[in-house]
Amino acid sequence: MEIKKDHFAFKANDYEKDVRRTGNVANIADGILKEFTFTKDQHIMDFGSGTGLLTQEIAPYVQKITCIDMSKSMTDVLREKSKDFTCQIEIKEVDITKIQIDDKYDAIISSMTIHHVKDIKILFKQFYSLLEVGGKIALADLEPEDGTFHSVDTGVFHFGFDKDWFLNIALEVGFKNLKIETVTVAKKPYGNFPIFLLTGNK
Ligand SMILES: C[S@@+](CC[C@H](N)C(=O)[O-])C[C@H]1O[C@@H](n2cnc3c(N)ncnc32)[C@H](O)[C@@H]1O
Repeated sequence: MEIKKDHFAFKANDYEKDVRRTGNVANIADGILKEFTFTKDQHIMDFGSGTGLLTQEIAPYVQKITCIDMSKSMTDVLREKSKDFTCQIEIKEVDITKIQIDDKYDAIISSMTIHHVKDIKILFKQFYSLLEVGGKIALADLEPEDGTFHSVDTGVFHFGFDKDWFLNIALEVGFKNLKIETVTVAKKPYGNFPIFLLTGNK
């Protein structure tokens, strides 16, 4: 049996104590809510939901959020918190690159997770097939950085993404009405790390 490493086990319980982190996710959520109007009959996915920082911001606007995250320690925190969320929550504790999902979603949102996935084109193809026609994507992640953003390797495949490159992968896969812009800046003692939000639809 494959023993999978939980890269976030050492930080899950303190993850939300960093107010800069929670502030950045709140800014990402504001950016998403400026672009899209959700409705209370919609079912969306939060990819790499972690402890649910983004999930909780979007929960008041949709019917259901499926939270996909392979870290047991992060989803344990989410499981406890989500009892108070204002929409239905389903947690799938899985590695998205290793499973087949049969649901269809009205939107896929994600914050600070895609740099943990090796093949972005395959991931975007999977997102495309998981969306209803017209379904939306709102994906936030790091702009190119020098490798110092993570002090500990939590399973990082990309030191951020060039915005044009990232948008073009989505375009090649078939997404439309794409827009990418800096939505917040993660400030650390040794530098500033801009974060973009890519929005579009199937
Ligand atoms: C930096 S955290 C971001 C959590 C949350 N979205 C936020 O912004 O606070 C990245 C999360 O993505 C999850 N993750 C990374 N790669 C994944 C994969 N292939 N499938 C499922 N979850 C993944 C990790 O377990 C981790 O909880």
